[in-house]
Amino acid sequence: MHDDGYFDERVAARYDESGELSDAGAVEPVIDFLADLCGSGRALELGIGTGRIALPLAQRGVPVHGIDLSKAMVARLRAKPGGDAIGVTIGDFATTTVDGRFSVAYVVFNTIMNLATQDAQVACFCNVAAHLEPGGCFVVEVLVPELRRLPPGEMIRAFHVSETRWGFDEYDVAIQGLTSHHFEIVDERVQPSRFLAGMRGPRSST
Ligand SMILES: C[S@@+](CC[C@H](N)C(=O)[O-])C[C@H]1O[C@@H](n2cnc3c(N)ncnc32)[C@H](O)[C@@H]1O
Repeated sequence: MHDDGYFDERVAARYDESGELSDAGAVEPVIDFLADLCGSGRALELGIGTGRIALPLAQRGVPVHGIDLSKAMVARLRAKPGGDAIGVTIGDFATTTVDGRFSVAYVVFNTIMNLATQDAQVACFCNVAAHLEPGGCFVVEVLVPELRRLPPGEMIRAFHVSETRWGFDEYDVAIQGLTSHHFEIVDERVQPSRFLAGMRGPRSST
């Protein structure tokens, strides 16, 4: 049976509700940058999700293809105007191949961290390299883990605190990973969720 991973139906149903992510102020600089880099070429988005970036990029005239594990997320993309025109391959972006070559491949919003092992991240870079035209670019948007700001002995840091939503990152330095804990009040009940993420880059040593 197909597994949507962390971005299952429950997460997908609420993904586009966090308005700040889709604000023009957050999206437009990304689109400007990617469209400029693509020129007249094609773009490949790893973890295309609900099309927050792919749709406006396609509207700028850049042909975009996406890879994503989650059928639930991609169903949201499909339901949006223009969503049907974007090709999507369901699969793991570390290993899934698609037809053709691209001038730009990109993975945004910390999605590279969803590959929680060094091996998976290395496989992803190799996979992207095999899809790029000569001179093509791989764009990775990812946070810098705040390990050096943690007080000694503390491995947990809050990244979001509001009246209805709380988020805490729990670092594990030994495995260079972190677990993101999310708690949200939905229909007067607290809904918890957890994401395991990898902090190591493909060149870091184990
Ligand atoms: C945080 S969302 C980002 C979606 C979109 N790129 C955006 O910026 O709004 C991460 C997306 O990557 C997908 N994803 C995570 N790990 C993946 C993997 N190994 N292979 C394919 N898709 C993956 C998830 O299903 C989800 O749709």
